Amino acid sequence: MSVVARARVQVLTDTVADQIAAGEVVERPASVVKELIENALDAGARSIRVELEDGGKTLIRVSDDGSGMDRDDARLALQRHATSKIRTATDLIGVATFGFRGEALPAIASVSRFELETCGEGEEGARLRVTGGKLDETQDAVRQRGTTITVRGLFYNTPARRKFLRATATETRAAVEALTVLALTRPDVAFALTSDGRVLLDCPPATRLIDRVHALWGGELADTLLAVSHREGPLEVTGLVQRPAQARPAGRKGYVFVRGRPIRDPFILRAAEAGYRSTIAPGDRPSLLLFLDLPGDAVDVNVHPAKLEARFRDKFFVEKVVEEAVREALAPLDAAASIGAGSSELGAAWSGLGGVLPEGAALELFASRESNSSVLPAPRLLQLFDTYIVFQAGQAISIVDQHSAHERVLYEGVMRQLSGDGAPAQRLLLPLTLDFAPAELDAIDAHRELLTRIGYEIEPFSGRSIVVHTAPNPHPRFEAARCLQELVADLAGGRFGGWQNRLERFAATYACRAAIKAGQTLDADEMRQLIVRLLSATLPAHDVHGRPSMVQLPKEELERRFGRT
Ligand SMILES: Nc1ncnc2c1ncn2[C@@H]1O[C@H](COP(=O)(O)OP(=O)(O)OP(=O)(O)O)[C@@H](O)[C@H]1O
Ligand SMILES: [Mg+2]
Repeated sequence: MSVVARARVQVLTDTVADQIAAGEVVERPASVVKELIENALDAGARSIRVELEDGGKTLIRVSDDGSGMDRDDARLALQRHATSKIRTATDLIGVATFGFRGEALPAIASVSRFELETCGEGEEGARLRVTGGKLDETQDAVRQRGTTITVRGLFYNTPARRKFLRATATETRAAVEALTVLALTRPDVAFALTSDGRVLLDCPPATRLIDRVHALWGGELADTLLAVSHREGPLEVTGLVQRPAQARPAGRKGYVFVRGRPIRDPFILRAAEAGYRSTIAPGDRPSLLLFLDLPGDAVDVNVHPAKLEARFRDKFFVEKVVEEAVREALAPLDAAASIGAGSSELGAAWSGLGGVLPEGAALELFASRESNSSVLPAPRLLQLFDTYIVFQAGQAISIVDQHSAHERVLYEGVMRQLSGDGAPAQRLLLPLTLDFAPAELDAIDAHRELLTRIGYEIEPFSGRSIVVHTAPNPHPRFEAARCLQELVADLAGGRFGGWQNRLERFAATYACRAAIKAGQTLDADEMRQLIVRLLSATLPAHDVHGRPSMVQLPKEELERRFGRT
């Protein structure tokens, strides 16, 4: 029998333990920036400055004007599990400071050449130097209240980790992002960041979140955001969300904060996106900045080594309320808000068109021929290119895309029918017989109930054929057979796949296929009915793909172009 060499059990030295802990806390320069800014905020700083050299690989310096420390505390702070922020485990419940583990400083100091200079109010300043976790010297220092920490040669003593550092530009970008996230949590604190002597960010103290967004990313993003503010029970959701029309497939900003801490939570972002319903195209991602506030005992923030995740006691509730909050924020976003005219003007145009609508009549957009009597003179409507309806609404020219508009109107009507009693269907004098491919027959089977609700009563005939007994009748030019064929092909082919909700997907597909098309001539009454119904829709400004259904050309713009101003 061979003898197996057995290693003896030993307790690791503090330095090795610190380096192992550092593996969890310090991944790259950006993690150092994050930890040091958090400490500065916890110390009550009003102004925080970050300097980077070589993306932080050579030097990271974070200076603050916070409470500072005296010499003894400064020494203690460099030991593991030394913290001023909690005393007992129960303090962890609802902890309001970013820090609570007492790990960040020793971890950083164990893998760098570390210098801490600090001074409390009315105290003597101190300067400590630590190299690879070993305290080299402690000196007196003269400085203003606050703390400056300088981290040089990150990972100089752990070459394997140093190798993983990326190009300077990449590390710089990550560090800027680390500052950005924290700067969003505290608009009232000034932040600045320089990289190799160049100022990359300079955010003055602000009172409102939107001003901070402006300072970080400029007006191009800030001007597309709407405020969210919603409370349900113990949960309050505030923040900013992007107008649907400005959502894009790439490059969005998506941030979630829980009790003031940045948290990565794709599910909350997804719940917020669900709040947009059909106002954005599948694949588009709106920018979202969501601040969730709830009692400390409803969420655990101590579940991730870098505190990037939180665990909610009732996650479903949180997601539901977030979705609702976004929905509510977008609701007043009628055409007016998103295309730049006052809603009162569109409202006036609407009453001018004479519209009080019978409930649930959206499907028969053009069915009723007699016009609603109108007290106010109706604005004149003009159809251009057999595609656009143009009219004056207050101080602007409104241009409506007839297909998009009708799609939106049908969509909302169909959603009501699908969740209510169904649509009035029209019995066909001669039942239609149609042929479908096997996959399409499967799609018909899978959607039979929904098809019945919108007005298609279908029966299998033989082989690949079906018989259609009744059909919806959304407008006089409606082609029942063609619409059904296109709808079924879409359903079978998985088009419109972006909708999570099956009902919404079905309604959107139908609305797209059943709506009047571009290139169809409308008479005055048809145009009027379409506009009236569009303006009374919940989300009139967009079709179901998130494209605008209406654009606004302000009179001012005309005056500018004609040189009248
Ligand atoms: N910029 C600062 N100004 C004043 N005190 C500071 C500063 N940075 C650190 N400290 C003090 O040093 C202690 C240790 O900091 P460290 O970041 O290691 O731990 P922590 O913030 O308590 O917890 P965590 O490891 O979760 O960040 C803090 O509790 C705080 O008392
Ligand atoms: Mg800390």
